[in-house]
Amino acid sequence: MEQEKQIDKSAEKKDVIIITRRSFFGALMAIGSAGMGAILAVPVLRYVLYPLYAKASGTDWSDVGEMSEFTNCKSPVRKTITFAQRDGWREVVSAQSVYVSRTAAGELEVLSAICPHLGCSVSWQQAQNDFLCPCHGSVFKADGMAVAGPSPRGMDRLPTRIKDGKLQVHFEYFRPNVPNQEKLT
Ligand code: FES
Repeated sequence: MEQEKQIDKSAEKKDVIIITRRSFFGALMAIGSAGMGAILAVPVLRYVLYPLYAKASGTDWSDVGEMSEFTNCKSPVRKTITFAQRDGWREVVSAQSVYVSRTAAGELEVLSAICPHLGCSVSWQQAQNDFLCPCHGSVFKADGMAVAGPSPRGMDRLPTRIKDGKLQVHFEYFRPNVPNQEKLT
């Protein structure tokens, strides 16, 4: 009888040791799996979130033309520029019209041809010496100032620079139908 009790106690002890080892290896496996999961999740998260932070990179500088082309320009000159733009995971090349014009002080400036009212394409009317938007009749002076129609602001002026004798522009989109030029990212 005494011997049987001793055998029972020894079996219980073994069970405790086995359970403890199992728990230890189980915990180790769980930690390992969690670590692997975290390591694998980083590139997946970066891929999924890429369009969000890539959006901030915006567009690049585009050539408008040789500076010599615009030295003697008296009225606005229409140009088509191309620029790379990120659309989600894809990079697409877009084309937009701009006008190289002069400010009232005679400085060269580049204006977006997108109407600030609702986004139609504005065109220069040589006979009237004005820009005209065909959609709702907004009228702008050669320097982009709004003089008639529903547009709440003048034509949008774009950042420019001169590089290697070329006029370059940084094309941007702006919020339509608001009084101030608000850049869209
Ligand atoms: S879109 Fe140009 S006036 Fe409305």
